[in-house]
Amino acid sequence: MSASLRVIRADITTLTVDAIVNAANNTLLGGGGVDGAIHRAAGPELLAHCHTLNGCATGEAKITPGFRLPARHIIHTVGPIWRDGVHGEPALLAACYRHALELADQTGLESVAFPCISTGVYGYPPDLAAPHALCTVREALARLPGIREVIFCCFSEEERMRYESLLAAR
Ligand code: APR
Repeated sequence: MSASLRVIRADITTLTVDAIVNAANNTLLGGGGVDGAIHRAAGPELLAHCHTLNGCATGEAKITPGFRLPARHIIHTVGPIWRDGVHGEPALLAACYRHALELADQTGLESVAFPCISTGVYGYPPDLAAPHALCTVREALARLPGIREVIFCCFSEEERMRYESLLAAR
């Protein structure tokens, strides 16, 4: 794997990367959390564009321009709503990270920033999501040489430290 992985604590809407990933819902028509922040920062053209996409299934990913964001593109993905961990949540969370990176690679993008998908409103335990996300990203990067940089963009210091220690562990 030649891509660099790094962790930062930041508002993902401020990042100048090829794509930021949005933790969206199935309508793709905005919401709270990082979805709300991205729609606010990208401007109304994003919502108008999303109306043409016909939603997004959980675990799948769709790409739009970044509009007023510093990021060139937004990759919208829909994470699983946590129930108990034995209703397909881990597989669906992994699918979000994998499909987002595959879509970035297909689009010829080199740098991608992820929020901590599903760990907010959707209730996925952050201590379970983080190692699963990291493992999934590493596996995907091994076969997507076009991706040069993946950033885990955490919103809290606790989350940043969690990812930092996971990255250092291996
Ligand atoms: N930049 C980076 N990370 C952020 C930002 C931001 N500006 N705002 C929130 N986050 C973090 C949250 O702290 C959490 O760690 O993004 C992570 C994901 O939380 P949510 O945004 O609540 O997303 P999720 O848990 O996947 O729930 C998705 O929430 O906003 C709605 O429309 C969305 O219905 C969907 C659901």
